[in-house]
Parts: sequence; structure tokens; C-alpha cells
Amino acid sequence: MRPRFKAWAEPYLKAHSEITLSVEQINSLPNYYLEIGAGKGNFLCNMALKLSDKIIIGLEKNVTCAGITAKKIVEQQIANAKLIHQDAGVLLPLLKGESVLAIFLNFSDPWPKKRHHKNRLTSEKYLVQYHRLLKSGGRVYMKTDNVDFFNYSLELASFSKFNILSVDRNYDGLDQNDEMTEYEQNFRLEGLPIYRLILEKV
Ligand SMILES: C[S@@+](CC[C@H](N)C(=O)[O-])C[C@H]1O[C@@H](n2cnc3c(N)ncnc32)[C@H](O)[C@@H]1O
Repeated sequence: MRPRFKAWAEPYLKAHSEITLSVEQINSLPNYYLEIGAGKGNFLCNMALKLSDKIIIGLEKNVTCAGITAKKIVEQQIANAKLIHQDAGVLLPLLKGESVLAIFLNFSDPWPKKRHHKNRLTSEKYLVQYHRLLKSGGRVYMKTDNVDFFNYSLELASFSKFNILSVDRNYDGLDQNDEMTEYEQNFRLEGLPIYRLILEKV
């Protein structure tokens, strides 16, 4: 389901610097939403339309996915959707704490092999970063089709400073604070259950 490499993506990103932000620009925002692993950008664009008075920043490390997302932002002229082509592990430590309203993790790579669990976006080092970045009352919304990754995330969250607000093993997709992603669309067509976890910084 990952798109094939598109040679146009990198030059396109360079030509559309208006849709990205520097670390300094991000750190001067009073608050913002963050999606980590934005994929092809449907969630980012649709949430930006919904949260029209707030900035939502998508983070995406894959150049082709970033290019596809950038094209959607540019073509739909969504001024409050921003995209950073960067790895979360590199960018997050550079961002100012107590700034983020909510973090969205949609169908993050499950990294099934145990030796790769450290790369999971709900591993301890990421939960520590999310807790630092979020404002008080801020939330992490996580959706996945992968039950093993979900159980792992729930367990790590239970050892973290987060309050576990909601654990849903058959999420219907109807929450107002949500939009459908490309992966989710395929999983729902296949009739697979979607798992959802909501954490809150108290
Ligand atoms: C399985 S895809 C899901 C895409 C999209 N969220 C969806 O639900 O359709 C995971 C995406 O997260 C991106 N990703 C994974 N780890 C990342 C990281 N550390 N920083 C930024 N992006 C990451 C991948 O490049 C990929 O596009």
C-alpha cells in the first residue's frame, strides 16, 4: 500500500516551501495539532478543514508520501495545514514543550519484530516526548488495525504519565475528533476491526 517512489515529489516539496514551517516558526506558534506519519494526507487535509482556526502540522518521513500530501494541501489551498518532511525521532526533541493540543497517530508502522519495537511511535521514548510537547489536557489519539501493536501501546501507556481515557477494540469511526485515513479506508472495506486508544495529559 506504500506508494512507489515518485521522482517529482522532492522538487515539488522544494517548490512549495509555503506549506512547511521551520523549527523556529513551529516554536513560535501559541498552539497547534500534530499528526505523526501523515501518509498521503487525507486525514491532515480533512482535519485542517474541520479545525479551521488552528494549525495542524503533518509529519511524514517518506518523500513520496510527503509529496502526495503536499500536492493535496496546495491544490485544495488549505492554509492551516502544514507539512514537515522529517523523521519524528529527529524533529520532536527540537520542539518547544507544552505547545501541542493533540497528537494523532494513525495506523503507524507496527514494527512486528521485537528488536524493532523501539521504532514504534508508542515506544517509551515517544510517549515521553508526547507528554512533554502536549499542553495540560492535551491528548494522544491512536488508531491501528494491529492488535499486538495496540496491546503494546496500551501497556506502555499504563506505565507512562498519561491518563488512559479510552480503549476501544471495535472503533466505529464516528468521533468528531477524527477523520478517515487511506489505510483505514482499506481496512474498513475488508471488515477488519479498528482499535483506538486515547491518552490525556493531566
Ligand atoms: C502505515 S502508514 C499510515 C499512513 C496514514 N497515517 C494512514 O493511516 O493512511 C505510516 C506512515 O507513517 C510514516 N512514518 C513512520 N514512522 C515515521 C516517523 N518516525 N516520522 C515520520 N513519519 C513516519 C511512514 O512513512 C508512513 O507514511
